Amino acid sequence: MEENLTNDSKYQQRFRYLGLTIEDLQRMAKFRPYFEKKADSFVKRFYDHITSFSNLKEIIDKNSTLERLSKTMRDYFISLTSPVIDEEYFQRRLFVGKKHQLIGLYPSWYLGAYRLYFEEISSIVHEVEKDESEFAKSFSAFVKRIILDIQLIIDNYFSEQLEHIIKTQEQVSEAVKVVESIAGRTNILSLNASIEAARAGEAGRTFAVVAKEVRKLAEDSSRSSKKIMEMIDKNMREIRQIKYQEETS
Ligand code: HEM
Repeated sequence: MEENLTNDSKYQQRFRYLGLTIEDLQRMAKFRPYFEKKADSFVKRFYDHITSFSNLKEIIDKNSTLERLSKTMRDYFISLTSPVIDEEYFQRRLFVGKKHQLIGLYPSWYLGAYRLYFEEISSIVHEVEKDESEFAKSFSAFVKRIILDIQLIIDNYFSEQLEHIIKTQEQVSEAVKVVESIAGRTNILSLNASIEAARAGEAGRTFAVVAKEVRKLAEDSSRSSKKIMEMIDKNMREIRQIKYQEETS
């Protein structure tokens, strides 16, 4: 039975923290036929509610179809009774976090939707467990599992968001390097222009003023670029710190 909950120590700590046990998995597994029976009506109710919010409907229409999502949600709903939580289970949840980040679904909308899950599961468990303490144990098992899913999905949502920020920072940093190099070349050009203006004597006087102004602008650009690079470095250090905490927690 050991393999029902992955032995990976990284995940074992989560199970222990949540108090999720093999007994919980066995409890949940026996609800599978009830989940299968209720899946279609639940999924319909779920999306009727979600699509009554125009911002969420827009996200769905832009990224998927109700037909496709309904199938995915049906599978997910039934997977809550799976007797196994292994690496594949974890990867699937992490992928949901990644997907939601990609489509720009803010976590509070995702979290709020679990209200419908709790109502449905409570009603199913109530139907099956007539004894109050058995009801409590079974319902609590689902609560623990759903919290585990939420943790994984939200963790990966933010992890993906950080990756996205890092990529943008790298692009900004590249663009600033180009500006810096243009400023350097402009500076040299303005120096050459000053020399030529001096050679031209009286006739080059106004040109010398222009060359001086251009040089000042080049120096200002270079200073600003350096400041931006310092800010990017500072942001990157902070992001690395957050990633480190995330990876070691
Ligand atoms: C209890 C809350 C939710 C759960 C458990 C959930 C679960 C899932 C799952 C399992 C997937 C499939 C990931 C994959 O491709 O393997 C997914 C994708 C998706 N979800 Fe959610 N979701 C929730 C809330 C929402 C909400 C509120 C929206 C509203 C916009 C939403 C929109 C989407 C969309 C558009 C996709 C992409 C589907 C695709 O690529 O076909 N989800 N979600």
